[in-house]
Amino acid sequence: MNRLLHHVAATVLCLALPAAAAGAPEVARAQYLWSQSPHGRMLERILPPSIEPAQLPEPRSAGARLAARYCVQCHYLPNPQMHTAARWQPIIERMLWRMQGQGNMGPLMKDMMAGVEAPTDSETATLAAYLARHGQREMNPEHPALRSTAGQIYSIACSQCHALPDPQRHTAREWPGVVRRMQGHMAWANTVVGAPELRTKPVLDTAEILRFLQRHARPEGSPLGGRADSGR
Ligand code: HEC
Ligand code: HEC
Repeated sequence: MNRLLHHVAATVLCLALPAAAAGAPEVARAQYLWSQSPHGRMLERILPPSIEPAQLPEPRSAGARLAARYCVQCHYLPNPQMHTAARWQPIIERMLWRMQGQGNMGPLMKDMMAGVEAPTDSETATLAAYLARHGQREMNPEHPALRSTAGQIYSIACSQCHALPDPQRHTAREWPGVVRRMQGHMAWANTVVGAPELRTKPVLDTAEILRFLQRHARPEGSPLGGRADSGR
């Protein structure tokens, strides 16, 4: 296990920075505010740039509009699919405290960006329901495939920032693009957060992770069903 961890740690420390997302006015405004702040670098590394408001699930829904309005005030727009409903719950509560100027970074946040807005109770409920509805689905930790070497590498590499995704979330055709995006996020975490002297050559075998995901992927053409815990 130790060697695996080492494996993964080394990889997180080695890939190249993806091009930063640009475009939407909310995002541009948030970036401007950060750039004016002595804490900009801290804010910038909270979440990697990933999606634009228009790419949110159901982009015209009330939930998506609230996310684009409230959730880019301090960091890049979060993707609802990043976390499971269970993980979103405490995050929403924590973010709400922050927006209300409470929490351990409350005064800092207020000071940094005068005029951070907090959602009302009913807006918060809409947001929470939206994030839960579109949340990630976790792989059953009892799935026998996770006991294989590939399963262990997958489990260590892919549960660092969110719950371990259910391979049935995507088809074999879709997974390569997702894994590539995740490499970008790992590279971002590395470049923005990691110390340069720790960087090494990539050793994480994402090809092996991809094979694992594709072996357990959702069959082409079948709908996104319930939780997949019947293993193979
Ligand atoms: C007032 C500033 C502020 C606002 C507005 C804000 N956040 Fe955050 N967010 C933070 C800070 C600071 C952190 C890092 C510390 C932490 O995780 O609490 C963070 C971290 C996060 C993380 C990464 C932590 C994790 O566990 O993955 C997610 C996801 C997130 N926020 C989602 C949201 C969502 C969703 C909203 C809108 C409802 C939101 N944030 C609004 C300040 C804010
Ligand atoms: C450095 C942090 C980090 C690591 C490590 C990471 N992810 Fe992610 N993941 C994210 C972020 C940020 C998002 C939300 C933004 C996005 O979707 O690009 C996300 C979202 C996802 C989603 C939901 C979005 C979708 O398209 O379905 C899946 C599935 C996923 N990750 C799979 C993986 C896999 C597989 C691995 C291991 C190869 C992995 N992640 C490792 C940060 C990470």
